[in-house]
Amino acid sequence: LKIVVLVSGGGTNLQAIIDGVEDGTISNTEIAGVISNNKNAYALKRAGENGIAHSCVSLKSWESREKFNQKLLETVESFCPDLIVLAGFLAVIPPAMIDKYSNRIINIHPSLIPSFCGKGYYGLKVHEAVLERGVKITGATVHFVDEGTDTGPIILQKAVQTKQGDTPEMLQKRVMAEAEWKLLPRAIDLIARGKVTTVDGKVLISEDE
Ligand code: GRF
Repeated sequence: LKIVVLVSGGGTNLQAIIDGVEDGTISNTEIAGVISNNKNAYALKRAGENGIAHSCVSLKSWESREKFNQKLLETVESFCPDLIVLAGFLAVIPPAMIDKYSNRIINIHPSLIPSFCGKGYYGLKVHEAVLERGVKITGATVHFVDEGTDTGPIILQKAVQTKQGDTPEMLQKRVMAEAEWKLLPRAIDLIARGKVTTVDGKVLISEDE
């Protein structure tokens, strides 16, 4: 399975994928490229350190959204991926990319969708809202990307308990370590082994947990 990983930040989810390919928990998969919309993303450094082709496609002030969308799609296509993985990618995915790669784009979201998701719920904001609401169980979700925000078919989810005294940062770290870094590699491995199908908007996984 040839994948392209889209990133915007620290790249800890990318690192989990790199490690999974390395140690074989993600079978027959190659990270063909890493693309960031943020030239300072540490994720790009991680790609470079691991000999993975990487590039930055950023929306410069003088460019239109259409120009950015076109450049992003061209860059993705240049890697001929079977699967596009959004790992903390904060730009809106161009509709043309959704159409061209329908059911071949997955995203990791740091909550149990449909809670705490949609516009405005990204990064720490998710965990701030979780703590503000006082929920006891949060977690992470891997889902297919459709034209909405965090609305595509759910592939995997994993629960994480909040703890007394949690700060958003503490909770984010726990959700990453206990859920995100496990779910994303597992979802890619399942897809790589042909174990994931979607029937009328519901994901079927033909393998026991
Ligand atoms: C993570 O919180 C992830 O859940 C969200 O964006 C962040 C990405 O972190 N989608 P990293 O760049 O993978 O470290």
